[in-house]
Amino acid sequence: MGMSTRGLGRAEGAVLVTNEEISRDLDTTPEWIKTRTGILSRRFAAEKETTSTMGAAAAARALAHAAVRDVDLTICCTMTPDYQSMPSTAALIQGELGLSGGAMDLNVACSGWVYGLVVANGLLQSRAVKRVLLVGADKTSCLTDPRDRSTRVLFGDGAGAAVLEYVEAPGEFVASDLGNDPSLSHLLFVPAGGSACPIGPEELANRSNYLQMAGREVFRAAVRVVVETCKAVLAKAGLSVSDVDFFIPHQANVRIVSYAAEKLGFPPEKVITNVDRYGNTSAASIPIALTEAWEDGRVKAGDRLLFCGFGAGMSWGSVLMEWSLEK
Ligand code: ACO
Repeated sequence: MGMSTRGLGRAEGAVLVTNEEISRDLDTTPEWIKTRTGILSRRFAAEKETTSTMGAAAAARALAHAAVRDVDLTICCTMTPDYQSMPSTAALIQGELGLSGGAMDLNVACSGWVYGLVVANGLLQSRAVKRVLLVGADKTSCLTDPRDRSTRVLFGDGAGAAVLEYVEAPGEFVASDLGNDPSLSHLLFVPAGGSACPIGPEELANRSNYLQMAGREVFRAAVRVVVETCKAVLAKAGLSVSDVDFFIPHQANVRIVSYAAEKLGFPPEKVITNVDRYGNTSAASIPIALTEAWEDGRVKAGDRLLFCGFGAGMSWGSVLMEWSLEK
């Protein structure tokens, strides 16, 4: 009696932007970006692409793979909704795909996908819904300041999606751990654009409508919380690192991933990374990495997968799953 994945899909922004290209407009170098982050290129959305169009493209692939058209609930994990307050991006995806059922957004920044899995699993287990379309989508390029080298080079745009279903059999979901430390909320922060500070001429002039980040502090906190939450979820499941087939963390910086994986004791071949090609796609990063690894045959039915997200809030979370979806 539990949750089972029926289909997966991904869709990245249409425009490939290499380190060489992004370095032309910023006081940075391709080498700095590569050595400090592991990123070689990222995908930015094309002019007409939005969070919902990328989300709908990924969702359409997941639904086609699952060969289903009916879902009871569409959840879109995003921190970059198409519209500032309403309608929800999930509602736009639902409309684009002609789906029925409920629709809602979930904003936990880069931890969104992991929180989304926990929410979907809870709703399925409670039998409130039978099938959930879970989408992680972000157009981060509209949140980073094109003039700010410290954030612009790190992020990318894309979406990933999964069709999740209630089954009368042991499900895939094994255990989860969620957390948030509001004392660190200032580390990743968009000062203007919400109800606390609507955007006016002053905000546009001082560029406070863009993401501000204390990179070094985020880095340190991220390694710490990733290690702690992964240990916590493994302890809840009564399992150890050697019982996990693949560690699929949020793709923010290859150095964060490697430090955390090393501290946990994961050998490199068990760690899925694709930040070199996509940068940090926020809520989309884990489902894109998962979908790629499943498409190329690395992730197989029967594998035990450890997902771990972290981001603004400062939020974090991890989910352990026993994968059952055949390619
Ligand atoms: N090119 C050249 N120099 C740069 C660049 C750049 N693109 N960006 C920053 N620098 C400079 C800094 O200004 C600093 O200069 P200073 O020493 O004169 O002050 C210098 O490089 C070194 O800065 P550090 O912060 O020490 O560099 P670090 O090795 O920590 O790398 C980085 C910076 C890549 C931002 C790293 O700290 C990082 O990845 N942090 C985590 C960011 C992250 O994961 N954010 C997303 C979280 S998820 C979410 O919810 C959004």
